[in-house]
Amino acid sequence: MAEDFDVKFTDRHYTPDPSYRQNSWLGDYQKAYEEFTRDPDAFWDRIASELHWFTPYTQVKEWNFPYARWFLNGKTNITYNCLDRHVLNARRNKVALIWRGEDDTERIYTYRQLFREVMRVANGLKNLGVTKGDRVCIYMPMVPEQIISMLACARIGAVHSVVFGGFGAAALNSRITGAAAKVVITADVTFRRGKSIPLKHIIEEAIINAPSVEHVVVLRRETNQPVEIHREMEVDFYEMIRDVQPECEPEIMDAEDPLFILYTSGSTGAPKGIVHTCGGYMVGTYYTTKNVFDIKDNDVYWCTADPGWITGHSYVVYGPLAMGATIVLTESTPDFPDPGVYWRMVEEFGVTILYTAPTAIRMFMKLGEQWPNKYNLSTLRILGSVGEPLNPEAFEWYYHVIGKDKVPILDTWWQTETGMHMITTMLGEPMYPGFAGKAIPGVVADVVDKDGNPVPPGTGGFLAIREPWPSMLRTVYNDDERYRKYWNTIPGCYAVGDLAVKNKAGCIMVLGRSDDLIVVAGHNIGTAEVESALVSHKAVAEAAVIGKPDVVKGNIIKAFVILRVDHTPSDKLKNELLYHVRITLGPIAMPSEIEFVASLPKTRSGKIMRRVLKAKEMGMDPGDISTLDE
Ligand code: WTA
Repeated sequence: MAEDFDVKFTDRHYTPDPSYRQNSWLGDYQKAYEEFTRDPDAFWDRIASELHWFTPYTQVKEWNFPYARWFLNGKTNITYNCLDRHVLNARRNKVALIWRGEDDTERIYTYRQLFREVMRVANGLKNLGVTKGDRVCIYMPMVPEQIISMLACARIGAVHSVVFGGFGAAALNSRITGAAAKVVITADVTFRRGKSIPLKHIIEEAIINAPSVEHVVVLRRETNQPVEIHREMEVDFYEMIRDVQPECEPEIMDAEDPLFILYTSGSTGAPKGIVHTCGGYMVGTYYTTKNVFDIKDNDVYWCTADPGWITGHSYVVYGPLAMGATIVLTESTPDFPDPGVYWRMVEEFGVTILYTAPTAIRMFMKLGEQWPNKYNLSTLRILGSVGEPLNPEAFEWYYHVIGKDKVPILDTWWQTETGMHMITTMLGEPMYPGFAGKAIPGVVADVVDKDGNPVPPGTGGFLAIREPWPSMLRTVYNDDERYRKYWNTIPGCYAVGDLAVKNKAGCIMVLGRSDDLIVVAGHNIGTAEVESALVSHKAVAEAAVIGKPDVVKGNIIKAFVILRVDHTPSDKLKNELLYHVRITLGPIAMPSEIEFVASLPKTRSGKIMRRVLKAKEMGMDPGDISTLDE
């Protein structure tokens, strides 16, 4: 299949200004990688020792395939590193969090204020009977209290399970019962596009048949018509902390104690409760936040993810706070009240590092550059992307329109399971549009065949990780069999479930999930690859492709296409798109059918659900659609 890929294996790349590398925490990528290879444990020891441990670990790691333990016998608390450490030192009055509501209300917390609130909520939870090891479900909109609640749990050693605020009652119930949560923290409403959307009734429904739940803590935001608190079960968030002690000592946690559970929807079956631990996760997120994003003390860092997803856990909350950064959080949607709101925030707050998702980038691309062009974006110095492949066309747009041809783009590949960034282009390295990059120092990644043998550049294969890393998942909650499956699929490797291909420079392009692969006349075709090709046409905003069974070819490709404004569906345009795919990818990747659509089914985190498209196309049941965004 090598020659099929070669068509787009251009050497086109951009090289950032050398000052990026010179001034970075990491320095030279190659040297750092060699330091890691020479002695992996010494490498991680050096990083872990930058953080505070109540009792030092006695061993960096123990690897007992497929089980790893990290920082053995070390005692710590992640909140000590995210809060106390800064308050005790120079960052006491530094802004930790800038929150912006939809109506432009602002709330700003210094490190000292955030610290105080976390301790009060921690004491409130203790008063409700929450102790170390108990599970607490957090189901909240993107408000400061969401982050404060997470940190309050970590403070007292309770295991949080954050459920994205957009899930419905059934999905929420299965996550609450799955983790047997003792307390649920929620809010009465979330604000979206100028409307208040009630949340509390979803909780009320979700905790029926959830016998583990003893209390529901409700943050009341709606001041005109406050919701009623049912006292037999419910507690008002601020009443809970009104009379509590102001101080709460951090619980002494073993490095291997669980920090949180986060459910991730498998492509099949029930969602998996991914378990992360206190020590390894802390070191992994701290290390990557420092060295991938290169955060400095005067940066204003904005990751647009909801803390309810792993990106929010690692790169809104724990990593950046461990670095003592100033973070931005907003409840705003990117196109309300108009498609300029994000860019206005970049200008107003002087955002220096922006981390967002390809789906958002493509939406902005569709809406046109007049929106970002209205604002001064000159403070930006680093741009990031995560969640799905950043196709070359979207990369170019991000690079030219937002980055003004000089801001490096970090396309970070990782997963809920990995906890931290694994593959990206480290600052200063050449960036190849379409390619995430290389394994970061500390990670051994490869593109392999089903037996675990590396495949040559230009040949597609499975993305795999070879060695354990500190923030790797330790198990799937109550389902260790599913944990072992990650390590049993490809001999000797952690199988990530993605398809990838390397270029001659060793950079990795992620083609999509292996379950999204389409086999056409014996050739493997990545859906992402075809989608990328379609999106690289000037008329296309977004595309999704699926395989449809075909008696002759096994499968044929069907494409669903959303056009950019100013373009209208026509047969002529269909032919143009087919021609375009033929020219960019070759005839083998050409769709047999193209349908113009107004929207695509997506998960609430913005991933296209091809499974749903396919089921609809075939007149079949779409299966579990609990993650589908309406
Ligand atoms: C995909 C999100 C291409 C991939 C952090 C992975 C990506 C899954 C990228 C994990 C990227 C994430 N390029 N694909 N930069 N980042 N993915 O658990 O398929 O929500 O396996 O974690 O998203 O999704 P998850």
